Amino acid sequence: MSRRVYLDNAATTPIRQEVLEAMMPFLTSNFGNPSSIHQDGRTTRAAIEGARKMVAGLIGASTGEIFFTSGGTESNNMAIKCAVTDLGVKRIITSPAEHHCVKNSVEHLHNRHMVGVDLVRIDRYGLPDFAHLEELLSSSDAPTLVSLMHANNELGSLLDLDALSTLCKKYGAWLHSDTVQTIGHYQINVQQTPIDFLSGAAHKFYGPKGIGFIYIHNRCHIEPFIDGGSQERNMRAGTENISGIVGLAKAMQLAYTELSEDVALISELKAYMKERISEICPDVYFNGHPTQSLYTVLNVSFPPGPYAELLIMSLDIAGISASGGSACSSGAESQSHVLNAIGHPTNRKAVRFSFSRNTTREDIDFTIDQLAGILAMGVHAVSLPA
Ligand SMILES: Cc1ncc(COP(=O)(O)O)c(C=O)c1O
Repeated sequence: MSRRVYLDNAATTPIRQEVLEAMMPFLTSNFGNPSSIHQDGRTTRAAIEGARKMVAGLIGASTGEIFFTSGGTESNNMAIKCAVTDLGVKRIITSPAEHHCVKNSVEHLHNRHMVGVDLVRIDRYGLPDFAHLEELLSSSDAPTLVSLMHANNELGSLLDLDALSTLCKKYGAWLHSDTVQTIGHYQINVQQTPIDFLSGAAHKFYGPKGIGFIYIHNRCHIEPFIDGGSQERNMRAGTENISGIVGLAKAMQLAYTELSEDVALISELKAYMKERISEICPDVYFNGHPTQSLYTVLNVSFPPGPYAELLIMSLDIAGISASGGSACSSGAESQSHVLNAIGHPTNRKAVRFSFSRNTTREDIDFTIDQLAGILAMGVHAVSLPA
């Protein structure tokens, strides 16, 4: 079989063996409905509450502040929509570089005249201009939610969450941060850094897909997001994804236990890739912030050339999975809203390489060799596999 290198870990990570093993009993023998009062139900209920305690403990929250969801998208929808319907928020301050689930939730509310929206200016790395944010915050007394992502999933740029939290507190604004790219990769403690809503998705830190959580500060009294039974303390009805919840907690526990080793290993790989790419293609530049950036993400801007349009496809054919940060509609690739928002030139091609604890130096060397070939010859030289 031909070699494949997976460098798209910001999209999703592979599940860890230990996580799978922790989940297995809840996919096989421990199948009781946690709402049932018999022993089978009590077993799975205990597993869920154990997982909640674990997640809460890892971010300094209390168990009553953690709700399991289907993932980052649902958590972000819940935070933004409930803040408007239940907390009386009349204005949202957000940025043009947020993930689609935040952007489209805000637009949904705005299009229905439920909320005013102010966009904070961002710099060329996609990071919000805090002076402009303060100007916006001080310009109105309307109850405000600030929704700004901790780290940008395309560019990797990392916002100063402490400074953001302090600023929101100063002006009495509610704060939501999309922490989907940072939970499990950075220490976050809601005691030290007060936030009203944050979100996590297990598949970004070697857990299963389709499971996430939302942290909701206990000062936020919101109504159920999904109506039905009394699961998740009435906030999100529906029989729980028990194996997913157990897997999420296990993955998060492992991620934080092994955090310093992972940071050291992956940071080194990112630096190596950066250096090697600059050697083979001196005209590249990097889109994320040079220092305030995810150690897992490297977004490279390649110069215009015959290969540019089909670079991601050529890499795929050569055995490398990377991401283009582009939306594909009607077969035509267009630049993502994030790249547009930072003014990335449309004739250059941005490629996001994202690393994991499984990535090796050999993976990077292989990628560089393939990339050098593609850049030297143009896409036409890359033949489709038989
Ligand atoms: C920053 C960010 N927010 C939200 C999401 C959505 O998470 P999920 O895929 O779990 O719904 C993602 C995943 O791509 C993300 O990177």
